[in-house]
Amino acid sequence: HSNGIVIVAAGRGERAGSSHEGPKQYRRIGGKAVIAHSLEAFLSWPGTGPVVLVIHPDDEALLDVATASIAGRRDCIVVHGGATRQQSVLKGLEALAGRGVTHAWIQDAVRPFVDAALFDRIEASLADGASGVLPVMPVSDTLKRGSPDGVVVETVPRAGLFAAQTPQVFALDAILDAHRRAAASGIGDFTDDASIAEWAGIPVRLVEGTPDNIKLTVKRDIAMADEKLARAAL
Ligand code: C5P
Repeated sequence: HSNGIVIVAAGRGERAGSSHEGPKQYRRIGGKAVIAHSLEAFLSWPGTGPVVLVIHPDDEALLDVATASIAGRRDCIVVHGGATRQQSVLKGLEALAGRGVTHAWIQDAVRPFVDAALFDRIEASLADGASGVLPVMPVSDTLKRGSPDGVVVETVPRAGLFAAQTPQVFALDAILDAHRRAAASGIGDFTDDASIAEWAGIPVRLVEGTPDNIKLTVKRDIAMADEKLARAAL
């Protein structure tokens, strides 16, 4: 099969306090832009085919600076995203259509710590016939449901519960069709692609994620990621 990669990077990153320092995917950790880490991981993996970068129209210059030194960057297809992650993914998937791609790998730009070992686990699952693959980590905290006024309502048993990571991988035809149908039906509140697959009835297999594969969400995550890489370089 042929793997097409969609890296979604069109968010504004309000939760990371982007107004002063630019969206978090362009902030530097370990001397490199956040988006450059996952882009390089994919470009240096032998299974990678066409790569689509989905960015905000205002971020063309930021992307150029962030990825200037990456070999293979010029071959990436750059498209503009939409108002939600879901819309941005759809635009990325549309850009993969007609390029001989059989499987779409959908990656959050703000997960810089993906690695080839994770790609290999996903690839093995695809080779085994999976139509959808989701990397996950078991949930380790005790989970509570709270009321709107901040009182514990109940404890949710965590057995069988997992936190979803990216890349999430699907047969391109199936996930593109699911995304188009969701958009046409006006359903726009999916926060990841495995939930769209679930809605569309595409079976999704779980594979073991990578503990380090965190999503940089708030400002503090970026500082912590930077420190981690600085320590690793010692
Ligand atoms: O906002 P959130 O943390 O869920 O974003 C996850 C990923 O989706 C980020 O890489 C972000 O840039 C991307 N995104 C996007 N278009 C949007 C919103 C988020 O590409 N409109």
